[in-house]
Amino acid sequence: MRSVEWDDGAVKMIDQRALPWRLEFARLETVSQVAESISNMTVRGAPAIGASAAFGMALAARETDEVDMGALLAFLEQRGELLKAARPTAVNLAWAVEQMLAVARSGECKSPDELREAMLLAAQDLADEDVAVNRRIGARGAALVNDGATVLHHCNTGSLACVEYGTALGVIRAAHEGGKRLHVLLDETRPRLQGSRLSAWEMEELGVSYDIIPDTAAGFFMNKGEVDIILVGADRIAANGDFANKIGTYQLAVLAAAHDIPFYCVAPTSTVDLALGCGDEIPIEQRDPAEVTTPYGKAIVPAHFKARNPAFDVTPHRYLTGIVTEHGIARPPYAENLARAVDGIEI
Ligand code: MRU
Repeated sequence: MRSVEWDDGAVKMIDQRALPWRLEFARLETVSQVAESISNMTVRGAPAIGASAAFGMALAARETDEVDMGALLAFLEQRGELLKAARPTAVNLAWAVEQMLAVARSGECKSPDELREAMLLAAQDLADEDVAVNRRIGARGAALVNDGATVLHHCNTGSLACVEYGTALGVIRAAHEGGKRLHVLLDETRPRLQGSRLSAWEMEELGVSYDIIPDTAAGFFMNKGEVDIILVGADRIAANGDFANKIGTYQLAVLAAAHDIPFYCVAPTSTVDLALGCGDEIPIEQRDPAEVTTPYGKAIVPAHFKARNPAFDVTPHRYLTGIVTEHGIARPPYAENLARAVDGIEI
């Protein structure tokens, strides 16, 4: 089942806010609705928001009956900005919008109808490619996970976070499907609980053994020798290998180093932003403090209590054992090896 797809003139996506209790779908008919669904996390996860934005651009091309190609392109550029502004950290969002604008800017389509068709095909290709890339990542990463291993995982990086299959959870899935016996410790991932709500739901679907753990218990399990390897995703990887991922990743990386546990980031090359030299340049989304004080509408403190809610943190590359991509596992020097992977060269 795909987390997002084109459905007869609309974008259909799993409403990730309703899981694990209900499997519901949202059907979006305007690009503004797609942007809103990205901001409010109906859809979330870097590759999934990229694919949603690509379909959103296909929708944008249908939203206007503009006949002048120049005016149509200007409209698409403006709608692209709306989508890009929906969430700032995951570069897959801007990357996907740019992929779609490249179709419009190429000048290859001679009429608005031709362009509408080409943009829909491009969005569908981007979504199909995401699934294919994830499967390649899974196959490469599975070799890192030994039979009998306990894997620690943060946030949700599975089928839901991508179009299908997943990145770090895709590696776990590939190892499981390859017959390895695994146990997964799932950080619950406060405040939005992507680990306990979404990753656990995916583990149930796949039949992988798991336990949800409080984020604050990760060090406890590492110290007891119960963690063999840590796999996390990424929202943006700078040229030097520093990467932004769900808040709480940085503290896992530091703990992993202290306990000498292999720590891998798993991501497609569409998550690499070679325009940024290091992690300090990655924009970090600050979300509504109400997500901390009133998770899922349930107040746990009085309304006037103060909170802060950075959605991501940056892990310096020195804590990484490697970065698993569809073109192989990048190891130091990351600047050189990531650039090769982005060029499609096997590393
Ligand atoms: O805020 P979210 O749920 O969109 O954050 C998701 C993550 O941080 C994931 O680890 C990342 O996007 C990679 S998903 C394959």
